[in-house]
Amino acid sequence: MPNTGLNTSGWVSLILGWGFILCLAFFCLFKLLTKKKPAGAAADHGHAKRDYWATRAGLILAMAGNAVGLGNFLRFPVKAAANGGGAFLVPYFIALLVLGIPLMWVEWSIGRYGGSRGHGTTPGMFSLLWKHPIAKYLGAFGIFLPFMIGTYYVFIEAWTLGYAWFSATGAYMGHESREAMRHFLLGFQGVESNNFFTSIGPVIVFVGITLALNYLFLVRGISKGIEVLARYGMPLLFVFAIVLVIRVLTLGAPDPALPDQSISAGLGFMWNADFSRLSQAGVWLVAAGQIFFTLSLGQGMINTYASYVKETEDVTLNGLATSSLNEFAEVILGGTIAIPVAVAFFGIIETQNIAAQGAFDLGFVSLPVIFQKIPFGQLFGTLWFLLLFIAAVTSSVAMTQPAVAFFVDEFKWSRFKAVNWTFGILLLCTALVVSFYKYGFLDELDFWIGTLGLALFAVIEVVVFSWIFGIDKGFAEMHKGADIKVPGVFKFVIKYITPLYLLVILGTWTYQEAGAKLLMHDLKPEDAGNKPYLWGARGLILAVVLLTLVLIYKAWQSKRHEAAKS
Ligand code: PHE
Repeated sequence: MPNTGLNTSGWVSLILGWGFILCLAFFCLFKLLTKKKPAGAAADHGHAKRDYWATRAGLILAMAGNAVGLGNFLRFPVKAAANGGGAFLVPYFIALLVLGIPLMWVEWSIGRYGGSRGHGTTPGMFSLLWKHPIAKYLGAFGIFLPFMIGTYYVFIEAWTLGYAWFSATGAYMGHESREAMRHFLLGFQGVESNNFFTSIGPVIVFVGITLALNYLFLVRGISKGIEVLARYGMPLLFVFAIVLVIRVLTLGAPDPALPDQSISAGLGFMWNADFSRLSQAGVWLVAAGQIFFTLSLGQGMINTYASYVKETEDVTLNGLATSSLNEFAEVILGGTIAIPVAVAFFGIIETQNIAAQGAFDLGFVSLPVIFQKIPFGQLFGTLWFLLLFIAAVTSSVAMTQPAVAFFVDEFKWSRFKAVNWTFGILLLCTALVVSFYKYGFLDELDFWIGTLGLALFAVIEVVVFSWIFGIDKGFAEMHKGADIKVPGVFKFVIKYITPLYLLVILGTWTYQEAGAKLLMHDLKPEDAGNKPYLWGARGLILAVVLLTLVLIYKAWQSKRHEAAKS
């Protein structure tokens, strides 16, 4: 089918989708600018010394930094293009409204509640919400999920830094085919030794720099480290992204001989709605999965950041503002860069192949080819990979912070000691991810942790909040110091719809994928040799889970001693 650009359904999706997000964003901005509250004194539960966020803008930017990540610029465009284009937005926005935004409020509320009582991670938070010995162990998810994601996220983050460097220095210039760029990537990742890379040395250097930067921001703390990173990083990220969007939208049809390959065809591919896809359950699952992934939900990352919010400070407007900034970065910016430009240079069919190969092919193989074909390509390439790097680093510090907070809050360690131990363990795990990447180690971790784990923990969390703690108490907690009132129907949504929706997703995933995955039946015959490494990945998950449980046990045991003594 020749694609001549946006058709009616495409325009409608684009206008409704962008319009919805822009309305949400302007609503938040308006409320933020017009609310002037006298700063009341925080109720002191004996933990006034916590390292709170210094400013409201810093808090919102840090939370947006947490949420805006590789998911926004790589994962979203690929998922949307492969699942119906504009029609994908229907299940996507439904998931945003019944899963994303409600869970965002829930996680902010749980986080602030725990933080003002001295607990920055979900074991402590859950034990406050539910006076049952098991509660703290359920909270373990909120430490090991983000930590495990961090172990491989920093590896991908290191690629983005490496590619920013390669773009700036022109290292890959002169290799204008996707085939060549694929080998460049494989060589860099250490999957093969070729004429681009003969050793894994370069990638290790970039992993080292990435870890060192993460370490520096974490060791400086919340207000002096993470908040400072977000205050500079996030505006820069938006500027880079907007520059790239403008560049993309003004490309027209780069090859006059192929007028079908144009940006308008790319936008058409991205947004023209294929409503027939909405009858497939898979599309709804992908949309819901993307909402979790992109908003950093279901893994304790938001809870921990929210634990540094004072009890008198708002969570409803801040949570909504975080969500709308993330959606702006995802749908409007992320959706306009990578896929439309790929269509303009490679055409629809080839772009479908690229999207089917996944986000890495798009970001690290196809786009570098394009940067070699446009004027000032080295500059735009550098901007693109720096954009990805900033998006990634503001998320990876958020993945590591829960473990750090756990040591500080529950063992009373100094931040320095806590960060050192966390990084020691992180280093060991990341070394395994880097060494065994070529055997599918990363994908194995990502399935169990980054897909199934998130949905599972989200169910636990929403049940603890709305059924055990109680939705009425929960709602009252959420509205302490609130700048906007959450409509009452969300009580119903959070209590019934969110958990039900999550259970359906979880059930379908378990039924459709987890069984075959567990028994490794989905392995291609040529990959049979990977099995020991995949078992290794599972072993690693198990080891980290056990370590977390033992640490929780130890922490609470010593608390009992303390309590008995006094
Ligand atoms: N939300 C961030 C992103 O979109 C970080 C993240 C990634 C969180 C994966 C959870 C899982 O990249």
